Amino acid sequence: MTQPISGFSKKSKAEKIEWLAANYLQNTPNAVETLRKYWNEDAAVQQLHDDFIENTLSNYYLPFGIAPNFLINNSMYALPMVTEESSVVAAASNAAKFWLERGGFKAEVISTEKNGQIHFNFFGSEKDMEAFFEEVKPKLIESIQSIEKNMKARGGGLLGLSLVDKSHILDGYFYIHATFETLDAMGANFINSCLEQIAHTFETEAKDFELFQKKETYPEVVMSILSNYVPECLVRAEVSCKLDELTTKQYDGKQFAEKFVRAIEIAKTETRRAVTHNKGIMNGVDAVVLATGNDFRAVEAGVHAYAARNSYYGSLTHAKIEADSFTFWIEVPLAVGTVGGLTSLHPLTKLAFEILQKPNAKELMKILAVAGLAQNFAAVRSLVTTGIQKGHMKMHLMNILNQLQASKEEKNEAVRYFTEQAVSHSAVVEFLEKTRK
Ligand code: MEV
Repeated sequence: MTQPISGFSKKSKAEKIEWLAANYLQNTPNAVETLRKYWNEDAAVQQLHDDFIENTLSNYYLPFGIAPNFLINNSMYALPMVTEESSVVAAASNAAKFWLERGGFKAEVISTEKNGQIHFNFFGSEKDMEAFFEEVKPKLIESIQSIEKNMKARGGGLLGLSLVDKSHILDGYFYIHATFETLDAMGANFINSCLEQIAHTFETEAKDFELFQKKETYPEVVMSILSNYVPECLVRAEVSCKLDELTTKQYDGKQFAEKFVRAIEIAKTETRRAVTHNKGIMNGVDAVVLATGNDFRAVEAGVHAYAARNSYYGSLTHAKIEADSFTFWIEVPLAVGTVGGLTSLHPLTKLAFEILQKPNAKELMKILAVAGLAQNFAAVRSLVTTGIQKGHMKMHLMNILNQLQASKEEKNEAVRYFTEQAVSHSAVVEFLEKTRK
């Protein structure tokens, strides 16, 4: 068994790799070579990546692709997308083109409020706590003056503080709910710094509050942290057209729209479908979130909680037919930033922002909502018409060929052959066996 190691983070990269190879990769002869192969040849760029996290050994590549032809509020965009899933960029491009010819996407930011909580215990009288909170509130706000200074100068900062009594659900549990405007920053560091300072002032001031002193009962802060649940940071994106504009060679527009709306209704009704439906939406959202260096776990957590806000988990998208018009829309909470974090550090993230014409946070929210809507449109359209496997496996063909170590010529031949044939792993194996004979 491998012995525990202490002081690992202090070791050099070479020492860390040596230790790893000796303890876990004894039977993997090319391990060190593989790790080194993915180092950036520019030492400064590599150092930048090394410094993102602790114990960096190498870089982990994901494709950085582009989905062009997105018409959003009458401006043209090409969306940078980072994803490992073969069909995502193709599906996004496809949906973008489809809606480009039908008026494009409309998007609007509904609200931009972020929030955080100071969770604390208090086993005294609720009335005393309310009295203390009202008294101490100005001091709490004053205590974050220096943290807030720059954010305030730009028009953001703390919006409000309120006391929430949850002791009827969990004995002695209260929290201070703090709301913020963080403008173009995702705001996690700013919010958490404010909360920790407010918590400190709250506890300190409580020691001098007479009613608490009399009963010798004081609040005790358990933790202070932003919430990734941001239903007050909402964006909406929409597409619409006449039913006959949906008609293609394969299907009639009205029939297609009816089946499409039915698919959305199913995703609104049945959690098992809704999760996969929303996963498809996040295929698009996450790919752009990743390309722009934003925190996809925060976005994912917030979005799925929002999907469950009505006590059941349902679809994030909606669709309707009214008279002869089809409308399809999404409403999602998205707390993202265009400054701070990785946004100005990672060279490809910087480039992603250039590609997107340097959006501010509100513009990025709109672009992300559109990416999700487009992805969902492509998925549901396939599902209610051809099924997804046809397109999906076509895109996956190259992965199968690479797995089977096909040569360049074999790949070209396979692409030609599978234009007409259904792709499956066994069909590709069979094809290669035949061509190799
Ligand atoms: C696959 O990554 C995503 C889909 O399953 C989404 C959906 O079912 O709507 C195709």
